[in-house]
Amino acid sequence: MKAAKSEFQRTNPNLCGADDLIRLNDLTVHNKIGDTEVMSKKKLQRLAELETFPNVFQLQKELQGNWNRLVFKNSNPITLELACGKGEYSLAMARKFPQRNFIGIDIKGARIWRGAKTAMDEQLINVAFLRTYIDHLPEYFLQDEVEEIWILFPDPYVKKSKENKRLTSSSFLKRYQQIIKTDGLVHLKTDDNQLFQFTLETLMQQGAKIIFRTSDLYSEDLPDEILNEKTFYEKMHLANKKTIKYVKFILK
Ligand SMILES: C[S@@+](CC[C@H](N)C(=O)[O-])C[C@H]1O[C@@H](n2cnc3c(N)ncnc32)[C@H](O)[C@@H]1O
Repeated sequence: MKAAKSEFQRTNPNLCGADDLIRLNDLTVHNKIGDTEVMSKKKLQRLAELETFPNVFQLQKELQGNWNRLVFKNSNPITLELACGKGEYSLAMARKFPQRNFIGIDIKGARIWRGAKTAMDEQLINVAFLRTYIDHLPEYFLQDEVEEIWILFPDPYVKKSKENKRLTSSSFLKRYQQIIKTDGLVHLKTDDNQLFQFTLETLMQQGAKIIFRTSDLYSEDLPDEILNEKTFYEKMHLANKKTIKYVKFILK
């Protein structure tokens, strides 16, 4: 993976789009002190380290269509974990399925740092991380480059005015459709009933095919063992006695 990154840096000296950089910087987590924003030392350090991690990619749109050739160096199927946070699911899937490739995607660098560091420590070579807004997915992947997508505990954006920020709103589903293979599976786990209902309604409007759904995942036999993996947010919700909702679907 290291070779892939340095090859990019050698052959693409102008990797950064100015707009992207501004947006990335805007979203970096800050501690507010009066009018001055001071990023915590630890976060600054992690963001700087992220630049040197061979398994983390930021702004390299040249990867579009080339993830397997340049990053993983094989032709195994690619699964994305969107809004991956610390990337627990990507790591768990990478350990369990060495013949598949996984990419965790999130905008928050300090969270990605955790997943990427663990992947390096465990020498997991079938998992990488992309720091970007999910809004830009089609700029990083070509049609059919992705076989499966997981969305785990995305922010519910409960206000109606923020509806189009929900990762299962029709504009996001359209983006997924632009990169996923025909009949590729998309999975959503959430604790939020409103988001779950919204997702089911949106899927119906889009004519998506629901393969499996439940509003209380752990009350029944799991349809797939991997569903037993729990992310940071899922553990929090379970500790707060929330029930977990899950839907698996194919976009049409
Ligand atoms: C509630 S956290 C869940 C993290 C992780 N999936 C988990 O279950 O622990 C939501 C994550 O989504 C990310 N996120 C929200 N909207 C995003 C977007 N449009 N693009 C990239 N990341 C986004 C946030 O940065 C945050 O890490």
